[in-house]
Formats: sequence, structure tokens, C-alpha cells
Amino acid sequence: MKGPSPGRWVATVPAKLNLGLAILGRRADGFHDLCSVMQTVTICDRLSLGSAGGTGEGFRLRVQPVAAGVDGLAVDDPGLASDSNLAVRAVRAALARLDGEGTFDLSLTKGIPAASGMGGASADAAAGLLLAERATGGDLGTDARRRLAADLGSDVPFFLTGGTALITGRGEHVQPLLPVVETRFVVVFPRLATPIPRKTARLFAALSPDDLGDDDLVQRQVSRIAAGLPIDPDLLGNAFSRPLIGLAPELAGLREVIASLTGRDVALTGAGPTHYVLEPDPERADAVAVALRERLGGSALFFVCQPWDGPPAIRLAEDGEPGPGVTI
Ligand code: C5P
Repeated sequence: MKGPSPGRWVATVPAKLNLGLAILGRRADGFHDLCSVMQTVTICDRLSLGSAGGTGEGFRLRVQPVAAGVDGLAVDDPGLASDSNLAVRAVRAALARLDGEGTFDLSLTKGIPAASGMGGASADAAAGLLLAERATGGDLGTDARRRLAADLGSDVPFFLTGGTALITGRGEHVQPLLPVVETRFVVVFPRLATPIPRKTARLFAALSPDDLGDDDLVQRQVSRIAAGLPIDPDLLGNAFSRPLIGLAPELAGLREVIASLTGRDVALTGAGPTHYVLEPDPERADAVAVALRERLGGSALFFVCQPWDGPPAIRLAEDGEPGPGVTI
């Protein structure tokens, strides 16, 4: 039985970008086999879990309403307390498995836009598993941790280790790669006038045979990364590019606008709608983000970020540390 371990643990949780995404085909179980390079980046949520003491029968999880940590960020699930939230489900599942005892407080501050293709919910779920271990002093073990992650969602296992990785199968096979050559990513998250409900499932369902393909481009990108060469912008193709425009026609001109203002190849991450360009020069990356903001205004959010090497960073909150995580 694991009683609460004193203190409040805070995870800084990085988002991901897909550095190329191929979908190989539909499987008998309804999922799709994919092949992608995923990269954690320095756009982050903050998830915290602390013990409020007490013992008794099992655990009780108190959940703080979610807060937006970035100006202009819409928060999709202001309740957070709902059990449909992936981070809440992850923490509950891990505490149950760890025989958690007492009362635990969970809070989330969003810096990663929801439903953006940057994996925020999956990242929070992975961090939730890791935080539950810290908050109870328990250890799920590598295999159980990975299984719990894969049960929560296809992208969740990647975020347990983060960094640069080749992702295959449904998403649960994660092969770590060498860290990529340092670069900046200029990221554009367009706010859709009409959000796409159940976006990921709808986009998988909208794939046509022409969108499916082999993993040649992704494997070439993997070879470059293994050789210590910079990410090749010509190898960032994403199978969702065509169906995304079908479901969100308002995005039709976005790629051209970003390309003309940045002079770079434009890539899509995950099932979108976030697009990005690579810009190795940090000063130029900042300038390009300003130019994009001037042109696109409030119709999008803009980020300049860089590779994050590794899993969520977890630390003990300092005494008196402010923020929505303070619930005790
Ligand atoms: O695993 P996750 O819950 O994130 O998947 C959401 C939906 O996306 C699934 O219900 C499925 O329709 C689709 N999906 C897929 N193939 C994958 C991952 C997700 O078809 N590899």
C-alpha cells in the first residue's frame, strides 16, 4: 500500500511535432499502422500532483479547474474534473494500480493548444502516470507503465520518454533516436472557426487510398538523424495534409501564406491543424514569427520553440510557489 509522499510534484510537459508522418494502412482492429518521427518541443503544459494527507480506504483525487498559461489560448475542458480528461484518467489508473492511499490534488495549466496535433492531452496523460509514481513513492515498472500509456491513447507511450523517436504500429512502438541537430521551429496554430469534433478519428476515416503510402520518406529522415545531419524539410510529408483541407476548407490558403512569409517548406504536425517551418537561425525564427503574426493576426497562435530532449521534467514544488497548483 502506498501512502502519500509529502510535497507537491510539478511536471513541465512538452508538446510534440511530427517530423514526417506516413500511414501504411488500416488494420483489422480499426486502427491504422503508421510510421512517424516524433520530436518533443519546448511548448509546455504544467501538471501538478500533490498529497493532501489522510489515509483510509483507497485514494481520493481532487481536481482543480484547468487554467490557460498562454494569452489567447482557448481551454477546451474548463472543468478538467470530467473523467473524459486523459490526464485525470491517467492519474486515476496509476493511483489505483499503485494502491494509492489518501487525498491527492491534481491541477493543469495549459500552454499547449488543445486539439492542435501537438499531442497535449497525450503528453499530460504520460506525465500523469509519472507524477502518480512520484506522489506515492511507488513504481509501476516499465512494462505496466507502457501498457497503461498505450491503453490511454496511441500517442501516450512516446511521451513517457520523449526526445526524438521513430513511432510505428498504432503508435505504441517507440524507438529512440539520437537528438536532432539544434534548430528552431516556427509554429502556427490556426484557430478554426468551426472546430472538427473527434478530429483525429474523423481524419483517419477520411483517408483515401492515395493518402496511404510506404514509409520511405520517414525512413530517410531517420537515417539522416542517425547520421547527425539536420532535419531535411523535404522529408516532412504528412498523410493527413489532403484530408485536413477537406474537413477544414478554411485552411486551404494557409500553407501558401506561411511559405511565402518564411521562404521555407511548410509541414503539418499530427492530424493538424498546426503547421510549422524549420528555421535554424534563432533571430530569423523570431522575426518570421512576428511577420506571421502581423499577417494572420488573431486567426492563429504563434510559437517559436526548439527540440526538448527527454520526458516531462518533474520536480518538487518550492515552498510558497504560486500558481493554480496550490490547493492544499
Ligand atoms: O489512440 P487514440 O485514442 O488517440 O485514437 C483516436 C482515434 O484515432 C481512434 O479511435 C482511431 O479511430 C484513430 N486512430 C487510428 N490509428 C491509429 C491511431 C488512432 O485509426 N494508429
